[in-house]
Amino acid sequence: MCGIVGYVGSKKAQEYLVTGLHRLEYRGYDSAGIVTIDDHKATLHRAKGKVEELDQLTAANPSSGTVGIGHTRWATHGEPSITNAHPQQSGDIYLVHNGIIENYRELKAELKDHKFASETDTEVLAALIDSFYDPGTKLVDAVAQALQLAVGTYGIAVVSTREPEHIVVARSGSPLIIGVGEGETYIASDASALVGYTDQAVYLNDGEIAVCSADGIDVVDLASRPLTKEVETIEVDMQAIQKQGYDHFLLKEISEQPQTLRSTLNGRVNVADKRIKLGGLNMTDDELKAVEHITIIGCGTAYYAGVLASYYLEQIVDGLTIDVAVASEFRYRSFHLPKNTVALVVSQSGETADTLACLREIKKRGVKTLGIINAVGSTIAREVDGGIYVHAGPEISVASTKAFTSQAAAMIMFGLVIAQTKGADVKDTLPYIEELAELPTEIENVIKNNQSEIAEIAKRYGSYNHALFFGRDTVYPVALEGALKLKEISYIQAEGYAAGELKHGPIALVDDSFFEVGLLLDNWLFDKTLSSLSEVNARGGHIFAITNSKKAIDAETVLHIDTKLKLLAPLVLNVAQQLFAYYIAVARGNDVDQPRNLAKSVTVE
Ligand code: F6R
Repeated sequence: MCGIVGYVGSKKAQEYLVTGLHRLEYRGYDSAGIVTIDDHKATLHRAKGKVEELDQLTAANPSSGTVGIGHTRWATHGEPSITNAHPQQSGDIYLVHNGIIENYRELKAELKDHKFASETDTEVLAALIDSFYDPGTKLVDAVAQALQLAVGTYGIAVVSTREPEHIVVARSGSPLIIGVGEGETYIASDASALVGYTDQAVYLNDGEIAVCSADGIDVVDLASRPLTKEVETIEVDMQAIQKQGYDHFLLKEISEQPQTLRSTLNGRVNVADKRIKLGGLNMTDDELKAVEHITIIGCGTAYYAGVLASYYLEQIVDGLTIDVAVASEFRYRSFHLPKNTVALVVSQSGETADTLACLREIKKRGVKTLGIINAVGSTIAREVDGGIYVHAGPEISVASTKAFTSQAAAMIMFGLVIAQTKGADVKDTLPYIEELAELPTEIENVIKNNQSEIAEIAKRYGSYNHALFFGRDTVYPVALEGALKLKEISYIQAEGYAAGELKHGPIALVDDSFFEVGLLLDNWLFDKTLSSLSEVNARGGHIFAITNSKKAIDAETVLHIDTKLKLLAPLVLNVAQQLFAYYIAVARGNDVDQPRNLAKSVTVE
């Protein structure tokens, strides 16, 4: 989704702005722009398409300005075009904006003196700020007055040719981080744009405005009262945001799951002690013992990780009831949560707007909230009562892979902590603990042993335009996730179904334009899933079966995965289908890391 960068200091701002925008490309965007100010004059460059276009524009027309702001835009109001790209200008001010100003039509109607050039809500906000920016008024005060009238979400950065010594930034619902350097200050909507420049940062909260200059920052609230902010250390290193020799971030992120999962489990899974230890829950033993219900909230892959975890949680914790909900639906439902509920709020980015809105709704009802979050310091991570950081490292590719595995593992650990606190028999919890400890190696094995076979299989299925994924029990959520992964990066229309549901509708689709991915676990439901396979075969299906069983399976293609895991084998099978989706997308020549129309971290509704 949209990205913001800014620089004020003694160096040429243009250099950082363009590099910073390249770092934010992974979030998904369709136009980009920067403005720098030199001697009270602005140099504005905007381009439709890739940030590379800006590289050319800035090379042809370099600016020595030491203050500037930049933006990557993912269109919400108005098509992707140079005119709609940010920065948007009004009078002396230039504005970049993430989020949506919901009352922009009403505001626009009031701003009769401004000639609007773009279709954006951002230009309306720029004009609104400008309307308060009389001679003698400070930019920060004009911004504060305008924001009091704006309804919606925003992360903004504003510069003025009249006050070239600073940048004014503000947020409400859209993240902004201020990087504190030596005699220079950076602004970014995402920590990855700051890596290598500074690791000292101030996270802006909703309702805060900061004036950023080379000497530091002054933060105030919307009523201009001064605030004291803590400087925190960002723990993202350069290696983590580079491809490190892989063709795509997606392949890197699939391949690094053994290590990222070890980071999730490290210090938490203790096989010798037969226990799980989680540090950040902020719950007493009495509170953990009292948990009777868990509600899991997330979007997309995070939601599917929650669905998968729900199967395990009800196996692990005796008597526990669970529901899992898609955040965009849940936030508007008249939901009631039973007594002794804990809500698990699952998000890789920690910034997803719908998930954040659910968190706030749940908190209003006085329910304990725990985050299952990857991005340290993100908004959701800061607003939950406690939680488990999954420590999977930056996920750059838009399609989420390593986060899914770590989120599922984190929620399983949480279930084990509840079970052990409630006094569960070790013989019931130990198999899960042992399998969690083995899981990274088992994932390593599938990547090492099956990758080339999967790449070959992918060649056979790359030309289909429809696919149906199915499985039962713990591989049903894996089927849902497999279909999502395939559709978002290959653009093959794919649906996930519970195998038992095929006869209730989807089997009507089976014909030569379709292929089917059947997930079969070697357990008490194996024969039942085999029946589903036979029914699809009988109708001329083209089945690719993925299984941890050694038994013969009647399917067009069978991938046997050799894993010693029984309970957690679904997470191993999932890695195989991640690779399958990856190789199909590559074969179809797609932009694997930045699939069309998608954005990483969906910060608008
Ligand atoms: C799928 C994908 C999305 C995200 C969803 C939630 O590959 O990336 O479905 O999982 O947008 O994002 P987070 O986890 O950041 O809340």
